[in-house]
Amino acid sequence: MNDELILNPRVHFQIGNGELRGDNVQHSYRVIRDLKHIFLQEQTREQMDQDILVYEVQVYFPVEEGTEGGLYFGNSTIYPGKVGDEYFITKGHFHSQKDRAEFYWGIYGEGMLILMDESGKIWAEKMIPGSLHYIPGKTAHRVANTGHEPLRFGACWPSDAGHDYKSIANTGFSARLLDVNGIPQLIKS
Ligand SMILES: [Fe+2]
Repeated sequence: MNDELILNPRVHFQIGNGELRGDNVQHSYRVIRDLKHIFLQEQTREQMDQDILVYEVQVYFPVEEGTEGGLYFGNSTIYPGKVGDEYFITKGHFHSQKDRAEFYWGIYGEGMLILMDESGKIWAEKMIPGSLHYIPGKTAHRVANTGHEPLRFGACWPSDAGHDYKSIANTGFSARLLDVNGIPQLIKS
């Protein structure tokens, strides 16, 4: 009767593993080749197999980018690995609209959410299945996989937040997450 009023969901995410499927879901991949100058040991990165998959991202874009008042929902999967002593890690960014916040949550695997405020103060939060992380505005964020299995985390952020990768490319994070005798440590750079 009310077919036009009661709709089937157009997007699904799998409760267990966060997998996203449906309309307006986009999938992107970052291999070693795409991550120039992201790692401390750039020379080591250059010498690695350039096709190694470092991370992939699925995002549901229900509204156009930049829309004020909208939200995006996604997940990232970071594969286990290192460039030299540095764990595989996402590029990291501030939001272009600096005051925009974001939620991350751990789905599977283990890692570390690295946060840095505008003064360069840096800290990290352990990411495990079920951990929930509030990333305040004006705080750069990136995630490293510190385990031996893939790490997947979910994310939800304002559609007008944007990504400012440039500030990070210019000044970098003030510390690196390195494997020191098998233990992840934030080392000032
Ligand atoms: Fe973000």
